[in-house]
Amino acid sequence: MRVLTPDGAAMTTLRTIKDAHTTEKLATRTDLSAEATRDIAASLTSLLADVFALYLKTKNFHWHMSDRHFRDYHLLLDEQGDQIFAMTDPIAERARKIGGTTLRSISDISRRQRILDNDADYVTPRDMLAELRDDNQQLGFRMRQVHALCDEHRDIASASLLENWIDETERRTWFLFEMTRGGSDDGG
Ligand SMILES: [Fe+2]
Repeated sequence: MRVLTPDGAAMTTLRTIKDAHTTEKLATRTDLSAEATRDIAASLTSLLADVFALYLKTKNFHWHMSDRHFRDYHLLLDEQGDQIFAMTDPIAERARKIGGTTLRSISDISRRQRILDNDADYVTPRDMLAELRDDNQQLGFRMRQVHALCDEHRDIASASLLENWIDETERRTWFLFEMTRGGSDDGG
């Protein structure tokens, strides 16, 4: 909704006023520039949406795994799900520590996520592993992009956390890649 300022010369929106007020209330002290805070927090929040999407997909496949390698795959995806979930709180808190805001809800995640959901009734074990392999690889690529942005603004702490998460993401991708070599239908 657009409103007139007192002198009638300039126009602004109630939405802008509300956002500015809210942002001010949630501002955290930082020596980073306003631009750095805005850009890094936005990148971290998009990354967080991807991490939640990948977490739920990993658990979805953990729950719906089938066939003769069930135990191995079921346990591997549980392990990977725990590792992915462990990133969520630190990512959100980095955004808040530098004065930004972060995710609010499941619908907020769905608006931002770039890793796609898989709601299929049945997915073969091999397709599950291959999809997670590609998703983890994509996540690693996004993490490197956020890392480059953090480097640009000298946000060393976010960059440092990302370095470990990139390593963990590459490990998950490596395992999933090795398990999908050969192309048989059962993932072996
Ligand atoms: Fe479980």
